[in-house]
Amino acid sequence: MPSVAVVGASRGLGREFVRQYLADGWTVHASARQDADLESLRALGAMAYRADVGDEASLAAMTAAIGGSLDLLIANAGVGAREPTLDEIDAAAWTRVMTINALGPLLVARTLGKKVRQGGTIAALSSVLGSIADNGGGIWSYRMSKAALNMGLSCLALELTPRDIKVLALHPGWVRTDMGGAQAPLQPPESVAGMRRVIAEATASGVFVDYSGKPLPW
Ligand SMILES: NC(=O)c1ccc[n+]([C@@H]2O[C@H](COP(=O)([O-])OP(=O)(O)OC[C@H]3O[C@@H](n4cnc5c(N)ncnc54)[C@H](OP(=O)(O)O)[C@@H]3O)[C@@H](O)[C@H]2O)c1
Repeated sequence: MPSVAVVGASRGLGREFVRQYLADGWTVHASARQDADLESLRALGAMAYRADVGDEASLAAMTAAIGGSLDLLIANAGVGAREPTLDEIDAAAWTRVMTINALGPLLVARTLGKKVRQGGTIAALSSVLGSIADNGGGIWSYRMSKAALNMGLSCLALELTPRDIKVLALHPGWVRTDMGGAQAPLQPPESVAGMRRVIAEATASGVFVDYSGKPLPW
């Protein structure tokens, strides 16, 4: 059976990835940060690990605990932010958003990524809000973090070409989760089903696409 690791799986899109891959018979390794979330993931049928993307040692421990290789690694963890104007940026909050959203997935890639087999895939949850070419302004730290993530994923795609590992920057659409809010038009099952299709059918690496497979401007 194929295997996937989902980092940041306590709720929202991460948990839905876990649910759908388990339903398809995959071996699923999933991370969370709270005891209750770890228990809940195990109850679903996943192997659960405590990991925080701001703590590389916890990602290394998860990597060491996983037996065998991975077909797919999903760096899903992320945090939202607002800051409509420059004056509202708080330096400590900005640094946290950048650390979790931009550096976090790269720490996931350099720890758990070592387990991804030749020909496998690393997918990270980016956002159209990180597109510089399609910028609506505001939401400063979140936009900046996802733009920085996109550059990191582009570099990662080049670095992993010799290992034949595809790297995908995925926009899930605007989805009804704690982050997306109640007004979001998409539900997690539809978004995740679309992203799973995109991952399964991907032929190119270093691409930025949405849940329907539509290419997005960097
Ligand atoms: N929803 C949308 O409309 C939308 C649109 C574009 C992109 N995205 C991206 O999609 C991804 C998932 O979003 P979502 O909507 O499912 O958000 P969510 O419901 O707020 O869930 C966020 C997940 O990230 C985890 N997380 C946060 N900080 C973490 C850390 N330091 N270490 C490990 N895990 C951490 C959370 O775990 P805890 O429960 O432990 O906090 C939770 O599992 C994010 O990267 C987000 O930026 C979402």
